[in-house]
Amino acid sequence: MDLQLEYFNDGTAFHEIDPLSINPEYLTDFSIYEKQSYKDHQFKFRCLLVDTASMPKDRLSGLLRSWGKVYIHEKQVKNYNEYLKNNLAYILKHDEIDILEKTNTLVDLSTNVVKESFEINFASAKDCKKSLKNVQRLISHAIEFISDINSLNGITNLIGHDYETHTHSIKVGWLMAIFINANKDLFDVKSGPQLKNLLVQAAVAGLLHDIGKIKIPQNILNKKGKLDNLEYIIIQSHTAYSASLLFDTGLSKRSIQAILYHHENEDGSGYPTGLSQDQIPLIAKICHITDVFDALTSKRHYKESKTPFEALKIMTGENPYLDTLKKFEEEARENKKTPVKAIVRDDYDVKLRRLREKEMIEEEAKKRVEARIKLRDKGMAHCFDTDLLRRFIYTINQSESFHLSELL
Ligand SMILES: [Fe+2]
Repeated sequence: MDLQLEYFNDGTAFHEIDPLSINPEYLTDFSIYEKQSYKDHQFKFRCLLVDTASMPKDRLSGLLRSWGKVYIHEKQVKNYNEYLKNNLAYILKHDEIDILEKTNTLVDLSTNVVKESFEINFASAKDCKKSLKNVQRLISHAIEFISDINSLNGITNLIGHDYETHTHSIKVGWLMAIFINANKDLFDVKSGPQLKNLLVQAAVAGLLHDIGKIKIPQNILNKKGKLDNLEYIIIQSHTAYSASLLFDTGLSKRSIQAILYHHENEDGSGYPTGLSQDQIPLIAKICHITDVFDALTSKRHYKESKTPFEALKIMTGENPYLDTLKKFEEEARENKKTPVKAIVRDDYDVKLRRLREKEMIEEEAKKRVEARIKLRDKGMAHCFDTDLLRRFIYTINQSESFHLSELL
């Protein structure tokens, strides 16, 4: 791509980048410009470097350090983004690049990769595998950074922002990796490739845990206002969809478990299968904790974000409605007669039968939703493994950005 050595314009054609993000050891295929004031909101952009092969490495390192802000032309943003993907580990390890910039680079790249996964229609097995490969590649470049407890300061920069599925997924994967790295004893893994493998499996699961939402109708997913009962039940199917979309991609069993069971509750009141306590795989319990923590601390159109302290207080809180819910669940389990079948036997009018089936499903769903809303409003202690939740609070409290000692 032929670019000029000098441009005169208002700056909209150029993007600022950090010169420290350029790896002197890696051959780049984009040009770097400096910006000078020219006249009346016009700037002069002068080319400093055409590619990194044109200069000895030592001299290049010195120059990159001496430059303040540098710019790339919009026609080469794609090349720069491709470069970032291949050099993510270099940037995340760089001591002189600040945490905010590292976080932004990581989130921008991950958002694109996760967005791509959510946008492909998963029509073929090839699409699924390709999407998973991209996510795995990104995570393995970033795993050292995202599993380091110090990177929690990066997550703090993202807390309280609007909830967005892609960013939410990144934070869930990131928190899972930090938590597992700090609590390796739970998995009986010490270090080396085994640990790296586990961390990648966890982070990949976090990034893809809600992928099944692509199968949920957009009008339900983006509905402003309260979901009705049937819509709520439809939303719950995303866990099974996520697992089925990724089932034949070669994704590890552990990642699939995290994805399928990340809404199971410790007391058996969750979905999709109502598993409880030891029946729930450990990795899924961790995914559940990080998922809820991030959802509560994010802002939505219908609610303000909670602080990490408030969120964890809700997560550890006692729930006065627990007995009522348990009773209801017991009744539901004991009730062997399937209401829909009973109607099928009695009503021969098809229209009437459908109407009554719908009413019955609505009624059943309403009871469940009411019980769950009460639970959610009055504490979520029944959802989580107490020991794991305590470990989670302890882990993130190690970062100076969180002040949670009162909860321990
Ligand atoms: Fe989910």
